[in-house]
Amino acid sequence: MTQLNVLIVGGGMISQEVILPTVFQQRRAGKIRDVLVASRRAQTIQTLRRQFPNENFHAWPDPDTVNPQESFPDIYRDAIQKLKPPGAVIVATPDHLHTPVILCAIDNGFDVIVQKPLCLDIADARKILQTAQTAQRYVYTDFHKRHDPALRACQYKYRRGLLGEALCSHAWIEERREMPLKNFALWAEQSSSFEYIGCHYVDMFHFITGLMPRKVIAFGQKKFLPEHGKNAFDAVQAIIEWENGSVQYVQSSWVLPDANPNLTNQGFQITCTEGEFRADNADRNSNFVSTPNGFERFNPHFFKPYLDWDNFDRDYWTGYGGESIIQPIDDIIKLHQHPERRKQFLADFEKTRPVPRQAMIATAVIQAARMSLDRHNAPVILDQNLNLHCDI
Ligand SMILES: NC(=O)c1ccc[n+]([C@@H]2O[C@H](COP(=O)([O-])OP(=O)(O)OC[C@H]3O[C@@H](n4cnc5c(N)ncnc54)[C@H](O)[C@@H]3O)[C@@H](O)[C@H]2O)c1
Repeated sequence: MTQLNVLIVGGGMISQEVILPTVFQQRRAGKIRDVLVASRRAQTIQTLRRQFPNENFHAWPDPDTVNPQESFPDIYRDAIQKLKPPGAVIVATPDHLHTPVILCAIDNGFDVIVQKPLCLDIADARKILQTAQTAQRYVYTDFHKRHDPALRACQYKYRRGLLGEALCSHAWIEERREMPLKNFALWAEQSSSFEYIGCHYVDMFHFITGLMPRKVIAFGQKKFLPEHGKNAFDAVQAIIEWENGSVQYVQSSWVLPDANPNLTNQGFQITCTEGEFRADNADRNSNFVSTPNGFERFNPHFFKPYLDWDNFDRDYWTGYGGESIIQPIDDIIKLHQHPERRKQFLADFEKTRPVPRQAMIATAVIQAARMSLDRHNAPVILDQNLNLHCDI
């Protein structure tokens, strides 16, 4: 069986909580050989070594030879040089730093898995699309909600014609204030709640309906975060008109109080000519109260540890957060097992996977929203090639 070597670039929250547990489990399942990690600072590597004491991985920068606080923004290039084929690069850097890592990985002949959003700029998305097509590389954006069975069920009923045609929809996704103030303190001003999380439900609308966006109007508020030293939006709302005239309202924020019983409030509703779907994607009606953690709203579908069926002393992580990393790992293994069919497989994935042609739809919408915010909520038109136009 083909075994991949996997390099993860960026050792922050998503790498610690989802990517590395998934990759180490996939290694136990025999799909992965070497695991490499490159992050900006050696102190992040020290954190990962403490968090995964029993796992072997190569890491850059080396905490034994450099100042743990020092920043090495280009060290991922050294790590990519050391990655041996067949390999995959998983990009988990902040939203605005995906593009150079993706392009470097493709230039070195590797397939790529990138955290959502693919990138923040449609010109970057086009460059990624063209570079990947020319080099015949696979670039998968991890929009994990595509793997949430509740939302996937909506896609099923819609695509099988049971709901009729989309008319209107609303989605909400809001996180606790710890995200811009602590976890993303270094880069919150270069993103927003719409770019960071709102993009999920833009991708979801396309995933369910197959429709393309035509117009975006966005609104934002800066009240709480500027008072706490961050020149960033507290909340961003976007109204998106899709090609059949349906309208989606996406509400996003990242200033929920610390006492909110889950990190992310989120849900999705869609009204169609023959039916409606609505789901709370945070409250799955299963909650804990415990002395160490207080009240916890528990979403068993996302990514949670259970006792490993084969060894009750070991944790086994599962859920849609991991499924959306396993799917591209399996795809990349398939591409290596059948090199003569790579071109055909890549063409097939364009129809079913968040490869650049699909992932760039959310990128175009978040860039249009940013453009609308910069122009006093002016409407931004998207043409059939996702070029953005605004008269103001
Ligand atoms: N799919 C999901 O569920 C999900 C959830 C959270 C975040 N994300 C996405 O994942 C990405 C990372 O988010 P996070 O929560 O881990 O953020 P984070 O800020 O916790 O971690 C980012 C990491 O990247 C490192 N980094 C920054 N510049 C780098 C560079 N030039 N080279 C190497 N490493 C560099 C930082 O030092 C940090 O360790 C973002 O794009 C985010 O939107 C996805």
